[in-house]
Amino acid sequence: MTRDQALALVHEHTPSPSLRRHMLAVECCLRKYAILLGEDPDLWGLTGLLHDFDYEGHPEDHPLWGMRLLESMSVDPAIVRAVAAHYEEKTGVAPESPLERHLVACDELTGFIAAVVYVRPSKSILDVEVKSVLKKLKEPSFAAAVDREGVHRGAALIGRPLEEHVAIMLEAMKASAADLGLA
Ligand SMILES: [Fe+2]
Ligand SMILES: [Fe+2]
Repeated sequence: MTRDQALALVHEHTPSPSLRRHMLAVECCLRKYAILLGEDPDLWGLTGLLHDFDYEGHPEDHPLWGMRLLESMSVDPAIVRAVAAHYEEKTGVAPESPLERHLVACDELTGFIAAVVYVRPSKSILDVEVKSVLKKLKEPSFAAAVDREGVHRGAALIGRPLEEHVAIMLEAMKASAADLGLA
């Protein structure tokens, strides 16, 4: 599957601009990590771009509905397994490979970083620093829906201090700021 095909699938199944941007954000973070780790940036990026494509249309059956469609399209099994592993509670598939672990680690944090951007007067990610993200994580009332424990577990899953993980994600999201609607 090419990126254009994946993007078309996302557009077909996800009318919500914010969910589209979430997938684009996870995509750019996974591409960055793949490059950093000497992995395949196209494979990792596609996984991020696709991981929630069925959520809006099939919230009850997410991600199983999407996995079935991806399988029927002969998408790389590594992508399908990673999509399963980002929702272990539903699929019983635990994140194991580096791709699976990084998907989980980036998933929750992209939304949190976007929430930090939205409370900036400039509404620009270019003004957001690592320390402001870390500070907001320590305020339980801020973006309360984001599971702090999950964020810490994610960083542990990829074997990085949270500060470093946030720095890498911020850098990736800043480079794609316009596409993410965060410029
Ligand atoms: Fe999901
Ligand atoms: Fe997600």
